[in-house]
Amino acid sequence: MTRVSMNVEPMPPEGDVATARQPPELEALRADHFAKARSPRVYDCLLGGIETYQPDRDAALDLYQAAPWAPLAARTNRYFTQTATAAVLRRGIAQFLDLGCGLPHSPDLHRLVPHGSPVVYVDRDPGVLAHAKTRLDIGPPYATDVVAADLLDMETLLAHPDIAGAFDLGGPIAVSVHDVLPWNLDDAAVADAMEALRDWLPVGSTLSVTHLTDHFNPRTVPRAVAAYERHGILVRPRSPAQVSALFGGFDHLGCGLAAVSQWSAHGPTVRHFTPYPARAEDCAAFAGIAVKS
Ligand SMILES: C[S@@+](CC[C@H](N)C(=O)[O-])C[C@H]1O[C@@H](n2cnc3c(N)ncnc32)[C@H](O)[C@@H]1O
Repeated sequence: MTRVSMNVEPMPPEGDVATARQPPELEALRADHFAKARSPRVYDCLLGGIETYQPDRDAALDLYQAAPWAPLAARTNRYFTQTATAAVLRRGIAQFLDLGCGLPHSPDLHRLVPHGSPVVYVDRDPGVLAHAKTRLDIGPPYATDVVAADLLDMETLLAHPDIAGAFDLGGPIAVSVHDVLPWNLDDAAVADAMEALRDWLPVGSTLSVTHLTDHFNPRTVPRAVAAYERHGILVRPRSPAQVSALFGGFDHLGCGLAAVSQWSAHGPTVRHFTPYPARAEDCAAFAGIAVKS
């Protein structure tokens, strides 16, 4: 019989949390990370996730009271990952960059694409990164990686060895930036970052963006923004012109920029199927997928 020897690290004494070895992502977490609401965890709460703490649940409830459509909007946004991935797979794209990936939620992007396709998840939130490292960076048959970076410093992000090494710039890349930019209030910094991203992408690449707007629902979106603010989270809806500018001169696929619940790969006359058939005012966000030609 073969004896298997296991290298088990000794458990730290119970209660001795301070001396327990933590992954670097968790070591970066300050105490107030759990004492205050965080936008990825409020979103997780709206999706019915369990990676939440009381401040996140309080914020989600306040948000729900201000804007009862918020859970439906979160689900509609999350479902758009499937819609967008189907659209880019139809174009034969086989490399994926998910900027602001958020906490893992089934089905994560790598489960929607052929095994072995490079999928790089990026986020700046240490709590998200800790979960993503354990649940998204899982090895064969998947070719996933998780990178800690801030997309506002796009040049540093794109030069990261795990991004530079993952992608073949001789072929197109599908980038998703879903519900990420509203959490970045500085319009000029967002515009610069998106321009750097568009410049870097090879021809044939796609840029998929969803973005909160008060265009469809000018009455309750400001209430939702105020509810977030009461919990220390700042969020910025943007106008159709501002969201449109994020795509630069890329050519829109399907129906073009539309409410996230109504985006269709087949043009404006074919209704998009979604199990979350929200009205435009109940998803309060734009979606678009555009290609670099
Ligand atoms: C609401 S979640 C969206 C998650 C996922 N993209 C989705 O659509 O389901 C937004 C995520 O974007 C991340 N994020 C926001 N601004 C960012 C930035 N400047 N750089 C990197 N990540 C960012 C947040 O940490 C959060 O995890």
